[in-house]
Amino acid sequence: MVLEMKAKVTYMELLKEDLVIMRVVPEKGVPEYRTGQFLTMGLPIPAEKKIVRRAYSLASHAGNRDYFEFVIRWVRKPLPGRVTTELFYLSVGDEVLLGYPTGAALQISEKLPNGEKDNRRIICVGGGTGLAPFIAFAHHFHDTNDKREVIILHGASYIDELSYKRLLTDYDNESKKRGIDQWNFKYRAAISRPKEYYNRSWSGPVGRVESFFKPDKKTGLSPVDEMVGEEITPDNTIVYICGYQGTIDGVIESLGSRGFVTEHEKNPDGSFGIKFESYG
Ligand SMILES: Cc1cc2nc3c(=O)[nH]c(=O)nc-3n(C[C@H](O)[C@H](O)[C@H](O)COP(=O)(O)OP(=O)(O)OC[C@H]3O[C@@H](n4cnc5c(N)ncnc54)[C@H](O)[C@@H]3O)c2cc1C
Ligand SMILES: NC(=O)c1ccc[n+]([C@@H]2O[C@H](COP(=O)([O-])OP(=O)(O)OC[C@H]3O[C@@H](n4cnc5c(N)ncnc54)[C@H](OP(=O)(O)O)[C@@H]3O)[C@@H](O)[C@H]2O)c1
Repeated sequence: MVLEMKAKVTYMELLKEDLVIMRVVPEKGVPEYRTGQFLTMGLPIPAEKKIVRRAYSLASHAGNRDYFEFVIRWVRKPLPGRVTTELFYLSVGDEVLLGYPTGAALQISEKLPNGEKDNRRIICVGGGTGLAPFIAFAHHFHDTNDKREVIILHGASYIDELSYKRLLTDYDNESKKRGIDQWNFKYRAAISRPKEYYNRSWSGPVGRVESFFKPDKKTGLSPVDEMVGEEITPDNTIVYICGYQGTIDGVIESLGSRGFVTEHEKNPDGSFGIKFESYG
C-alpha cells in the first residue's frame, strides 16, 4: 500500500505558459522531513482512469511547516507529459495526492568522515527546474543562521525561466549589506540561448550552467574560482548538482582533475566533494 497524504493546492503562480510555482498543503499538515528531499505527486489521469504519480523536488525547506512548494515544468515534447499536462489545469482548492518526502541524494552534508563539522563552501548548481532543492537550501541556511559560504548557480534557456531571481538576488544583496561574516551568499545565473531575441536584455554570463566550472586555458582558473577568489578543491568546497545528466557530467568532468569525487564513488577515507540528483 502506498502511504499518501491528501493535500490541497493553495497557490499557483504561472511564470510562463509552461512553468509554474505552486504550493500545496496536506490535510493533516506538513510532516517532518529533510531539506533537499522530493516527494511524489499523484493526479487522476482521465484517459487512463487511474492516479499517476511523479517525483517533484521540494523548493520549500524543512523549517517551513506551512506548505510544500514546487517549481514545475509542463513537459510538452515529444508528446505532452501525462501528469504535468493535468497539473497545469489545477486551480487553488483542487486536491492532489502526495507521497511522503524522501531521498538522500541532496541532503546537506553536516559532518566530515572524521566527525568534524563540514564547514566547506557550498556550491549549488541547478539546471532549469533543478534549481528547486537549492531554493530549499537557501531558505534553510538563511533561517538557521548558517555561517558557511553558499553560492547558487542557476542555468536556464530564457531569462523568464530564472524562476527565483528576485528571492536569490535579495539574499545576495542581504549578504553584501550584513557582511559575509553574518550571511555569506552569492547568486549567479547563466543563460544558454543568449542570441535569441527574447534574451536581448541579458548581459550576464552565457552558456550552460556547467560552464561556470570550465577553467580558462591560460590561467587554469574557472569563473567560479574567480568568483570565490581561490581555486576550489574538495577540501574547501562541496558541490551539489540537480539537473540533466549532461549538467552533472559537465561539472564532474571539470572538477575530476582537481580530485573531486562523488558521494557514490567516495575516497577510501569516506570523503567526497560532489552530491547530485539527476533528472533521470
Ligand atoms: C527525484 C526527481 C525530482 C524531480 N523534480 C522535479 C521538479 O522539481 N520539477 C519538475 O518540473 N520535474 C521534476 N521531476 C520530473 C518529474 O518527475 C516528471 O518526470 C516530469 O514532470 C514529467 O512527467 P509527465 O508525467 O508530465 O511526463 P511523462 O508522461 O512521464 O513523459 C515523460 C517524457 O516522455 C515523453 N513521452 C510520453 N509519452 C511518450 C510516447 N508515447 N512516445 C514518446 N515519448 C513519450 C514525454 O514527451 C516526456 O518527454 C523530477 C524527477 C525526479 C526523478
Ligand atoms: N530532480 C529531478 O530529477 C528533476 C528536477 C527538476 C526537473 N526535472 C525534469 O527535467 C526536465 C527538464 O527540465 P527543465 O525544463 O527545467 O530544463 P530546461 O529549462 O529545458 O533546461 C535547463 C537548462 O539545461 C540545459 N540543458 C538542456 N538539455 C541539456 C543536456 N542534455 N545537458 C545539459 N544541459 C542541458 C538548457 O540548455 P539549452 O538552452 O541549450 O537547451 C538550459 O540551460 C523536465 O522533464 C522536468 O520535469 C527533474
